[in-house]
Amino acid sequence: MTNERGQRRYVEEPVGDPLGRFYTPDPVAELVVRDVLVPMLQAHNVSRPKILEMSVGGGSFVFWIRQYIEGAYVHGNDLDPDAPGLKLCDRTSNVDAARTRWSEGWDVNIGNPPWDPPAPAAPTIDHVGRAIRTAPIGLLVLPWSYGGQPTWSPMFSLEVGFEGVQPINPRPWIAHREAALYRWNAHIERRERREYFQPLVWR
Ligand SMILES: C[S@@+](CC[C@H](N)C(=O)[O-])C[C@H]1O[C@@H](n2cnc3c(N)ncnc32)[C@H](O)[C@@H]1O
Repeated sequence: MTNERGQRRYVEEPVGDPLGRFYTPDPVAELVVRDVLVPMLQAHNVSRPKILEMSVGGGSFVFWIRQYIEGAYVHGNDLDPDAPGLKLCDRTSNVDAARTRWSEGWDVNIGNPPWDPPAPAAPTIDHVGRAIRTAPIGLLVLPWSYGGQPTWSPMFSLEVGFEGVQPINPRPWIAHREAALYRWNAHIERRERREYFQPLVWR
């Protein structure tokens, strides 16, 4: 299915696709960029940000970054060399994001990593671990249920800059679990507690 820009959107691949290809709907990505990322950049005086999308997929985040953030530089990566979003990026690569030592100097890591891909693919937690080490601002779409799982608590601790979670309503994919935006922000040095942000209502 293509949208008016000729890009694939609302793709619902069967659950179990080894690459976890379910792309973020445009309206969800727009809300994340406009209502979350742009205010964070403004609050910390980050201009012309260097942004890394480790699994760029359909490219909806990059599309909205281009609309709302002047001078952004975007590196888009996807294991799938045919991922349509690669065409929107300044620089591209096709490596396994969870097993790559990313360079430093990024301002933002944004995206929607593959959720629980079947082995031997790297588990989602490895993608997130890499992502939050690359940039002070991390915005990742993940299952809502991760927030309550003990194995995930190291990712959601104040020590790694975790800021809080924001439900996404309604769920973006019929065939998948409830989603939320998980937010990391290392610009704020001392934080007393994690936040439960108001839901992002996209429809
Ligand atoms: C859930 S989709 C999200 C795509 C995109 N971020 C979006 O919001 O539309 C996950 C993407 O991760 C890619 N992918 C899967 N395994 C990967 C890996 N190990 N490294 C990099 N990309 C991977 C898939 O090809 C797919 O495009």
